[in-house]
Amino acid sequence: MAGAIRFLLGQAERTLTDVPPTLTVLEYLRRHERRMGTKEGCAEGDCGACTVVLSEPDGEGGLKHRTVNSCIQFVPVLHGRQLTTVEDLKAPDGALHPVQQALVDRHGSQCGFCTPGFVMQLYAGWLEGELTDRQAIKDWLAGNLCRCTGYGPIIEAGLDAARAKGPNAAASANVAKALDRINSGAMLHAESHGCQVFGPRSADELAEVYLQYPDAIIVAGATDVGLWVTKQHRALRTLIDITRVKDLALIEEDETGLTIGATVSHRDATEALARLHPDLGELMRRFASFQIRNAGTVGGNIANGSPIGDLPPALIALDARLTLRRGVERREIPLENFFIAYGKQDRAPGEFVESVFVPALRPEHRFACYKISKRFDQDISAVMGAFRVKLDGRKVSEARVAFGGMAATPKRAAKAEAALTNRMLDNTSVEAAAAALAEDFAPISDMRASKDYRLKAAQNLLRRFHLENSAGEKPETRVLELS
Ligand SMILES: Cc1cc2nc3c(=O)[nH]c(=O)nc-3n(C[C@H](O)[C@H](O)[C@H](O)COP(=O)(O)OP(=O)(O)OC[C@H]3O[C@@H](n4cnc5c(N)ncnc54)[C@H](O)[C@@H]3O)c2cc1C
Ligand code: FES
Ligand code: FES
Repeated sequence: MAGAIRFLLGQAERTLTDVPPTLTVLEYLRRHERRMGTKEGCAEGDCGACTVVLSEPDGEGGLKHRTVNSCIQFVPVLHGRQLTTVEDLKAPDGALHPVQQALVDRHGSQCGFCTPGFVMQLYAGWLEGELTDRQAIKDWLAGNLCRCTGYGPIIEAGLDAARAKGPNAAASANVAKALDRINSGAMLHAESHGCQVFGPRSADELAEVYLQYPDAIIVAGATDVGLWVTKQHRALRTLIDITRVKDLALIEEDETGLTIGATVSHRDATEALARLHPDLGELMRRFASFQIRNAGTVGGNIANGSPIGDLPPALIALDARLTLRRGVERREIPLENFFIAYGKQDRAPGEFVESVFVPALRPEHRFACYKISKRFDQDISAVMGAFRVKLDGRKVSEARVAFGGMAATPKRAAKAEAALTNRMLDNTSVEAAAAALAEDFAPISDMRASKDYRLKAAQNLLRRFHLENSAGEKPETRVLELS
């Protein structure tokens, strides 16, 4: 292998020189390190049994931590980071970590497969001081799927653990220094078993490498790409791991709107999106799980071109613009034009998604977005609807209506928009627009929903948007989770 993947496993430095770059972190832990505490349940990011913590310097002398599903992460993501598994939690004298002790005291265990994942997810919540109340803990645990046995006591244990003393700042600073040393070396380039990986650290390095290897697979959060390997058994030859590209991980916010860099994780984007509109915050809370949101990126959610991705319909309704870059050349396009057909996007070889600009809402705008899925948390949308209308009094001067799950791409509803534009926003125009949705879309039936359900749900979302924006007494239109 030319070059090596260097990281900390717990406190010990590791150098990997002869493993395929598509080896998953889970396989590495179990087969190479014989660390059997991290379990495999689903191998597709759904169950949380394989949860581990990745830590990296936060730029202020400390560490930033995030849990990820090790079953779908490839080993290059470890380079320059610290990997913590359930084996690392016990103190050298054998004392249990406060999270483990609280779980023991509260009898908060699941089976042997699920418990380590719950421990690691609560441990990360404890590290970040975010186990603040029951609802926060439920959100943290949404990606630890099983509810067989001790879910109530697990939540109590989380509340107990939150009262224990937090992490040791001096120890974190030492780890951050050790990681800075690894990261100060040359750009990662490793090759083994017929597969090579590059780890650019800036958009310029990425642009250069991608021009040289336009057939390479960009790996951002790996929450799609990981499954190509674990489920589809695809052999990937050249990877560009963009998880270290610092200047694409930035969010800029001003009165005109938000610019979100391609490698900003869903979790990091959530607060800024929620400031733009609370529905976007709620959408992100229900986007997959904590572990997936910690890894998955805004750029990946757009670039994968999925017809059921959650962000594209919302961003299209908001009139977002996408910046693409190839070498030193950049171009900006309306986001909706990026999606050409199923599996086909407007992206040339060697061109990558650099950022997306989301215009701020104006006082005359009304906006809402709604996700319909079978399960409240950690589920892919059956239908995702997003609406932005510009009102002049009660008259609609502009309408943007976009849906996911209704066509082969995320798509605007041109006929429904026309039925609303230059009309009063009232039952008559909304019913005309609802009828027009049947002309805009011919959805398909699949395991998530039938075509009839999809169309009916889309029409009802439009009605709901109208009800929520009607003058006078408002009916209850949102089901709130009870704590
Ligand atoms: C358990 C689970 C639950 C999920 N739940 C949801 C959900 O609720 N809603 C939802 O929308 N999605 C969901 N997903 C799908 C996935 O998490 C998201 O689409 C995510 O945003 C993908 O981003 P990523 O960074 O992980 O992409 P990756 O897997 O790294 O990449 C995806 C694709 O985009 C390309 N790519 C990535 N970044 C760039 C870039 N900057 N420029 C060019 N190409 C790029 C890659 O080459 C690849 O083709 C879920 C996935 C899993 C496994
Ligand atoms: S094994 Fe199920 S999420 Fe990884
Ligand atoms: S499968 Fe592990 S507790 Fe349900």
